[in-house]
Amino acid sequence: MIRDLWYKNAVIYNLSLSTFMDANGDGVGDFQGLLRRLDYLHGLGVTCLWLGPFQTSPMKDDGYDVADYYTVDPRYGTLGDFVEFTHACEQRGIRVIIDLVINHTSDQHPWFKEARSDPDSKYRDWYVWSDRKPENADQGMVFPGVQKSTWTYDREAKAWYFHRFYKFQPDLNTAHPEVHAELLKIMGFWIQLGVAGFRMDAVPFIIAEKGADVTKPKEQFGMLRSFREFVQWRRGDAMLLAEANILPEDDLHYFGSDGDRCHMMFNFQVNQHLFYALATADTAPLAKALEVTKPRPATAQWGTFLRNHDELDLGRLTEEQRQAVFAAFGPDKSMQLYDRGIRRRLAPMLNADRRRIELAYSLMFTLPGTPVIRYGDEIGMGDDLSLPERNCARTPMQWSDEPHGGFTKSDEPETPAISGGVFGYERINAAIQRRDPQSLLNWTERIIRMRKECPEIGWGDFQILKTGRPEVLALRYDWRNNGVVVLHNLSDKPCEIVLDVDGHGEGCRLVNLLSEDHSEPDAKGRHHLVMEAYGYRWFRVGGLDYLLRRTESDGKPGEEVQATSSRTGASSSSRS
Ligand code: NOJ
Repeated sequence: MIRDLWYKNAVIYNLSLSTFMDANGDGVGDFQGLLRRLDYLHGLGVTCLWLGPFQTSPMKDDGYDVADYYTVDPRYGTLGDFVEFTHACEQRGIRVIIDLVINHTSDQHPWFKEARSDPDSKYRDWYVWSDRKPENADQGMVFPGVQKSTWTYDREAKAWYFHRFYKFQPDLNTAHPEVHAELLKIMGFWIQLGVAGFRMDAVPFIIAEKGADVTKPKEQFGMLRSFREFVQWRRGDAMLLAEANILPEDDLHYFGSDGDRCHMMFNFQVNQHLFYALATADTAPLAKALEVTKPRPATAQWGTFLRNHDELDLGRLTEEQRQAVFAAFGPDKSMQLYDRGIRRRLAPMLNADRRRIELAYSLMFTLPGTPVIRYGDEIGMGDDLSLPERNCARTPMQWSDEPHGGFTKSDEPETPAISGGVFGYERINAAIQRRDPQSLLNWTERIIRMRKECPEIGWGDFQILKTGRPEVLALRYDWRNNGVVVLHNLSDKPCEIVLDVDGHGEGCRLVNLLSEDHSEPDAKGRHHLVMEAYGYRWFRVGGLDYLLRRTESDGKPGEEVQATSSRTGASSSSRS
């Protein structure tokens, strides 16, 4: 079967249908609207779109409460519109991945309605029940402070049901063979309609053992293998991107040590330490997070990101580190959420300081993995803290300075666009920025182009170079006799560093990829570089001479997998 590891070097853009573009003027975004904006996304340079859930849903959790897996919610259009959309993406060389929310359904899903009303229904066992209140009912809530328990009594069923998330999201009994078969059918359905993969919601909970008597749930990793096998049978280049905020020691269980489970995972470990580094200018914990998440199978890839549609979860930091990030980026209680995170968008967290925004994005685009950006961040959109929970960062895309930011012609958008002040659509919008060569939008487009011209980052292996300064992170990537060195100064002060890019003073020219400011080595082969406050540099290592001196054999076409030696001895055994 033909297999393509496109996700190793993609640029993924995440959006929610409801707030991206409204074409029919009903105040809610839709597929027709998104279709009209595809050329904007293509021009930006994104190669893959990740759509948040758009299936029929009561929308009590922004669509993460699905009531029918095989339909498009009528607010967004029809299945016909969806296929038009995937076709239009294909024409532009953009792949589409969609959220797959299968840990739970909505309590309005016909399966749950039947399960609760009829104990003899086949759907009863599709959910997780208990006759008595489980002892751990008030433990393991994902949304502490908002969600009261993980088990709720259902009067109709006269039993308790399990829900890892809100009580209107009953957990599916994912270990049940019929449920498993249905989940594969759902994946097959959407693949047939043109999707190239899934952002799998809540993976650790999908595979956890569930039940009233389960105190230490074991993970059923075999499920991940069967999901992967199935999607690849249906489409050779299909990809699973797991949302799994796990500890590094579990990474290989989720990727599969033979690369036979998830193709990709979001790197939450690096994400949280990256924000700590931005907050304190101490890059040591970030460097450690990069090292501990380095081992992965050759075909696997990390998704690197700054902000997403949820809160910035800081739960993996130490208490002291977390407090430092709160103090820097979310000092007010109203900015914090679920006792563990910050609910703001990136630009307000960084006080709309262009230097810091560029630094953060430059860093994100050059960390090991595939970058995932969130709609609106390319123009520096803000948030609306008057909206509850995570909704504050889910406001309409700001297209222009027309009413409601040009998002809708309706006078009553379901979610109001941000208006007035530093982040209002009057000042921050795509139309203005498109015309300004110095805008963040045009900067983002250029940095995406440069990222694409550095395939070493996605394919290659990285080393952390010594800079002698805790505030400067230096990474070097190598792949097929090409090398890239990227430097980031996270401090608000300039500094000088001395860099030995090949570790043995051999020395070579560093060609600046973003300006004419190249660097020549001194007699000992070292580079002396002055980094301005929040400065960043992307260099290609060496000119022709340097390349000729290097002895490693060049990679041959089709050997990408072997060339990626992130994990010692990793082989291409899962290529099919
Ligand atoms: C994780 C999603 O990212 C989040 O938005 C959602 O509320 C939960 N899973 C439940 O599906």
